[in-house]
Amino acid sequence: MSHASHITLSRYLIEKQREKQLIPADLRLLIEVVARSCVHIAVTIGKGALGGALGEAGSENIQGEAQKKLDVISNEILLDANEWGGHLAAMASEEMPLPRLIPHRYPQGEYLLLFDPLDGSSNIDVNASIGTIFSVLKCPDGVDMSSEAAAEQAFLQPGTAQVAAGYAIYGPTTLLALTVGDGVALFTLDRESGAFVLTQEKLTIPAETSEFAVNMSNQRHWEAPVQRYVAELLQGREGVRGRDFNMRWVAAMVADVHRILIRGGVFMYPQDARTREKGGKLRLMYEANPMAWLIEQAGGAASTGRARILDLAPAKLHQRVPVILGAKHEVERLVSYHAKPDE
Ligand code: AHG
Ligand code: MN
Ligand code: MN
Repeated sequence: MSHASHITLSRYLIEKQREKQLIPADLRLLIEVVARSCVHIAVTIGKGALGGALGEAGSENIQGEAQKKLDVISNEILLDANEWGGHLAAMASEEMPLPRLIPHRYPQGEYLLLFDPLDGSSNIDVNASIGTIFSVLKCPDGVDMSSEAAAEQAFLQPGTAQVAAGYAIYGPTTLLALTVGDGVALFTLDRESGAFVLTQEKLTIPAETSEFAVNMSNQRHWEAPVQRYVAELLQGREGVRGRDFNMRWVAAMVADVHRILIRGGVFMYPQDARTREKGGKLRLMYEANPMAWLIEQAGGAASTGRARILDLAPAKLHQRVPVILGAKHEVERLVSYHAKPDE
């Protein structure tokens, strides 16, 4: 027996537009094309070694990280699918140094698409959850889009300017989480029909939690406020928090954020001594902003420890930031420790 609704992603988007005018036709096309790309990526991932999709690509991206074959394949799938529809002015990706302009043979649209084509790359070869993260902005009027280098300027908008954001998670089930600023909706991929079907709406993150996510192996590099906060969690019932905390770390932000949207929790990839030069580990435009908006739309909070992520004015496309997000009261507590570091 099936418990699913019969509301496909297309129908959801059309009805949202009818009710609340949040999704003009071009934005709907964009979201549907991104979703279709994610189905394509899911199919490729599903073939694993049989499809020749595992292993190293033998190249490095702009961040100096070794690319996996799937990083490159997923990036190509998203680029190819999105260039011809007439809905975009340009695309930017974690895997490319400069934005990709729309070829002149196609019409130009008013949106900008940003993505982390394959999140959690270190999970690929061990068959653990991975994902795709995306963010959509409007292309400002009057910016110079004549060259790839000039186009970077158009993307440098704060997270509050996003008009859509979401992720696909390729786990035991392929799911799509989406916000257009009216809460978070979750769609399940029906592998027979290839359609995403609405399975949960208005996801909410409880303000309280007893579960945290952080890579503990980085502990010695953290700043004092994070040291204090995590030490208090680890003290459990015997400490100031008076209760035990559980820990989870999937090492794919998509999977850790997804767990928090489903059952609550707090996620940290904080500033540490080794990433201070670069600004942090996670990327503002492809990871922090879309996830921060989803989390806020579900009633949670997202901060660097010192500022709301969505308020940050980006200085460059590949900017990195510290990320603390999830249960509101936990994020607020850790932010308050940053404000009074000597306590
Ligand atoms: P990506 O695979 O896109 O480079 O992102 C990996 C990120 C993020 O998804 C995850 O939270 C974090 O890196 C894991 O980092 P560690 O391996 O340092 O734990
Ligand atoms: Mn990533
Ligand atoms: Mn990635």
